[in-house]
Amino acid sequence: CGIVGYIGTNDTKDVLLNGLEKLEYRGYDSAGIATLNGEGLHLSKVKGRIATLREKVDKGIETKLGIGHTRWATHGEPSEDNAHPHQSVSGRFTLVHNGVIENYYELRDQYLTEVNLVSETDTEIVVQLMDLFYKETNNVLTAFRKTMSLLKGSYAIALIDAEDQDVIYVAKSKSPLLVGLGEGFNLVASDAMATLKETDTYLEIEDKEVVLVKRQEVQIQKFDGTEVVRAPYKAEIDASDTEKGTYDHFMLKEIDEQPFVIRKIIQEYQDEQDNIKVDGNIRAAMLDADRIYIIAAGTSYNAGLVGKQVIENIAGTPVEVHIASEFSYNMPLLSKKPLFIFISQSGETADSRAVLVKTKSLGHPSITVTNVPGSTLSREADYTLHLYAGPEIAVASTKAYTAQIAVLTILAVDTATEKGIKLNFDPLQELGIVASVMESLTDQKERFAKLAKEFFTGMRNAFFIGRSTDYFVVQEASLKLKEISYIQAEGFAGGELKHGTIALIEDGTPVIAISTQENVNYSIRGNVQEVSARGANTCVVSMEGLEQESDNIVLPRVHPLLTPLVSVVPMQLLAYYAALHRDCDVDKPRNLAKSVTVE
Ligand code: G6P
Repeated sequence: CGIVGYIGTNDTKDVLLNGLEKLEYRGYDSAGIATLNGEGLHLSKVKGRIATLREKVDKGIETKLGIGHTRWATHGEPSEDNAHPHQSVSGRFTLVHNGVIENYYELRDQYLTEVNLVSETDTEIVVQLMDLFYKETNNVLTAFRKTMSLLKGSYAIALIDAEDQDVIYVAKSKSPLLVGLGEGFNLVASDAMATLKETDTYLEIEDKEVVLVKRQEVQIQKFDGTEVVRAPYKAEIDASDTEKGTYDHFMLKEIDEQPFVIRKIIQEYQDEQDNIKVDGNIRAAMLDADRIYIIAAGTSYNAGLVGKQVIENIAGTPVEVHIASEFSYNMPLLSKKPLFIFISQSGETADSRAVLVKTKSLGHPSITVTNVPGSTLSREADYTLHLYAGPEIAVASTKAYTAQIAVLTILAVDTATEKGIKLNFDPLQELGIVASVMESLTDQKERFAKLAKEFFTGMRNAFFIGRSTDYFVVQEASLKLKEISYIQAEGFAGGELKHGTIALIEDGTPVIAISTQENVNYSIRGNVQEVSARGANTCVVSMEGLEQESDNIVLPRVHPLLTPLVSVVPMQLLAYYAALHRDCDVDKPRNLAKSVTVE
């Protein structure tokens, strides 16, 4: 899941271990590093955390180049054997890999029937092929090129040669990987976050290139050996944004940052006359489209559901929202002038990228809405809308969700203005109110901690219900709770309850209802009655003007289209405290990865 490589004049261990720590947020279940000096290769791997790896690494050994990896198991269980780096049988080549080699069995059967494979990973095939092709060609670079050209699927690879202390061989296809540039040293990383301490200057690697990373230079070649010249770029991430500060968890810090993010978005998308401004090309693409297809995964998909409603209501353009991983199999009949909007916090989700590759090949225009400009989806789509949320480290997404809805609202308003649609509200002012309401909610943490204890202690299941706009938010609410507290949670349309789910309601089952929309206030309260008559422990989150005395949380009033931005905050806090009360690893929940770069 995470790759770091270093070649320079300083000792490698700390650079690699610190870099891997910065990638912990992406989720992993094992880790390892391989470093090289005149005495040979030093390999350390563990199942579990970087802290354990740090203890295992021999402090006495000084090395000036090495590679490290955090693994999120795909082929083969999490174990020390399956952890990276992997070494070839001869011991000469050692590599780390992200991604999935799809033709792994074919390659094994065609080339490696004589080799005793030690792990169950697709990765090991790659390193054993290096041995084989090196024997054939007597040239490491030729062997590397040949190996890379045979791989199908996704990969980001960094390889070291035990007999050469002056180079790291690097290649990628579909999976993210970049080179970080320094004075007298260079780095390789799957995520800029791993290298922020050392550099802010990067070199992009494109698919199907081979890159030789040396101390003083970086050489890029195509598979056929042609040299490629590419200018470096600077990343805009502030290293201090990636620290927890006084918080125990990144998730709580990120929940708290939401009002600032909304204000930042208002500022970034405002011109001197206080009007909303988006890039002219994006505006043109929006105006030209007869239908928008939003593609996303996880929390970003849930934000897309809200985005559809906002765009349709404000800008009057029809929108469909699709789960990225399903789109290829269940591709809808497209309109005459489709516009694809990819929503992705990381900009790296492989499922979304697969759709982008396909829609691009069909010639359709695309916009990526992302927190990471320069990410794969941002580079490969025609245009990018930046979320300005700052690095999101906790696996469970919070501020990216609200930023995504805010940016889609801005996009919708811009399109509406261009279409000459008159709005009966001032969107920037309304977003300003949202920011203040968010603040008033994040100020009430103790209250949410108490409610979480009351509703979720000892519970195995929980249900969230809502209608209309609130139905979208309950889907995000249930995702948050299940992701970090492992309570089985589902978000349902209030009206669907009686068609099946109500059978699951038992004495004490927590049912959280959101009611922020006037037109459904009556009916959702009917659903609350139905479940409470069957023993459910109900918690109602409503909005000023619609409240009843027994409601557990009454949100200050915001514009009806923007309620998800505020109603989600108590849901995030409830999930956070539920997980905390259950002693769960809030920032790094089991089995999950922050950015899923495999399909
Ligand atoms: C992973 C994360 C989720 C996230 C989803 C989409 O599954 O655990 O929190 O919502 O990927 O990620 P993206 O970066 O594309 O928004």
